[in-house]
Amino acid sequence: MSDRSVVSGAVTTDVDGGGAGEIPALAPRADFPILAREVNGKPLIYLDSAASSQKPTQVLDAMDTFARTSYSNTHRGAYTLAEEATGAYERARKQVARFINASSVREVIFTRNTTESINLVARTWAEANLRPGDTVLTTEMEHHSNIVPWQLAAERTGARVDYVPLTDDGELDQAAYERLLETAKPKLVALTQMSNVLGTLPPVKEMIAKAHAMGALALLDGAQSVPHLPVDVRALDCDFLAFSAHKMLGPTGIGALWGRRELLEAMPPFLGGGSMIREVKMSGSTWADLPQKFEAGTPAIIEAVGLGAAVAYLSALGMEQVRAHEHALTRYALERLATVPEIRIFGPGAEARGGTISFTLGDIHAHDLATLLDRDGIAIRAGHHCAQPIMDRYCIPATARASFYVYSTSSEVDALAEALERAHGVFAL
Ligand SMILES: Cc1ncc(COP(=O)(O)O)c(C=O)c1O
Repeated sequence: MSDRSVVSGAVTTDVDGGGAGEIPALAPRADFPILAREVNGKPLIYLDSAASSQKPTQVLDAMDTFARTSYSNTHRGAYTLAEEATGAYERARKQVARFINASSVREVIFTRNTTESINLVARTWAEANLRPGDTVLTTEMEHHSNIVPWQLAAERTGARVDYVPLTDDGELDQAAYERLLETAKPKLVALTQMSNVLGTLPPVKEMIAKAHAMGALALLDGAQSVPHLPVDVRALDCDFLAFSAHKMLGPTGIGALWGRRELLEAMPPFLGGGSMIREVKMSGSTWADLPQKFEAGTPAIIEAVGLGAAVAYLSALGMEQVRAHEHALTRYALERLATVPEIRIFGPGAEARGGTISFTLGDIHAHDLATLLDRDGIAIRAGHHCAQPIMDRYCIPATARASFYVYSTSSEVDALAEALERAHGVFAL
């Protein structure tokens, strides 16, 4: 795996945009083979990275090379390939730990994705700690992954789930948050660090400090933040952080849960089976140390190598630069899209959000819009984005959503705006 082209690519202009006044891609677009394809006879404009990002050659090659040369199961063999595979898998864990500034590599648990990471906490921590009448506080802004596991945990334990409401402009209502901390005295606050619909970046550091001051733990849903911002678990002082590789240039099938070591050590196991045990007797079993206690069964080994390569790629770009690039693009997009007739853009201004923009266009259904844009080779998402409470809050069935990443450019934003103007014209007839 090499990050060479990332570093050199940061200064390329012609293939990556870069005409006067244009915001070019941060990463070399040539690193992303899929961006060279056409869709419906038009160059692909991929504006759906919030759902899943594309993978650079460096990630694809790392997985391919590993699978071709060093693949075997991990942790179990005394032969060369097993040692190489275990080494590669554990190296990926170290890369992830460094990427989020974990104090120990043992605090990084590999899971399938953000959803599984949150479910892990909502099964093990919640069942060991929640009692009837206790509260878990989440928000109206969450992806279903940070709502449903808590509802299920509440059903199992007799606890209840409360929600911090959204304001009209797509922020979390901070006064209501403070009131809920006072009145509900939650055991845990489960918060997104960036909304996958509104793009909102809630002030999570302050919110975590307030939760701690009231004796609550804080879990962050980092599905949209870890790929796009510098995330430092020690600086944030959170207790758990969940994220997915496939939204950060890596493969599907692997994600991570970071947790504070003492919390993870006190939690019962999640899934039972091979690899997570110290000793199994017919009378009962004992558990392996962290992180293996939470990694039952054969893990996603090739995918871990891909996640490690994705982290290396993003680190070479620099997460401050990733954030700056998407901020510039978002500011530009909010201005440009605002000129499209009858557009309604949801969420706060560029300063308080990441590179995800949800909108409606007149009374055109979001799915029709996405289908029409696909004819121009433009991929956007339409629907409730697994966040139905947000749709209910704004009394809409669905939104269209464009989302940016390191390979996105302002000319793609222009193409989107022009396609929306054409769509408006078609439906206005
Ligand atoms: C904010 C947020 N949380 C959780 C998830 C769930 O991620 P995954 O499907 O990878 O588990 C997503 C996916 O879109 C998301 O955007």
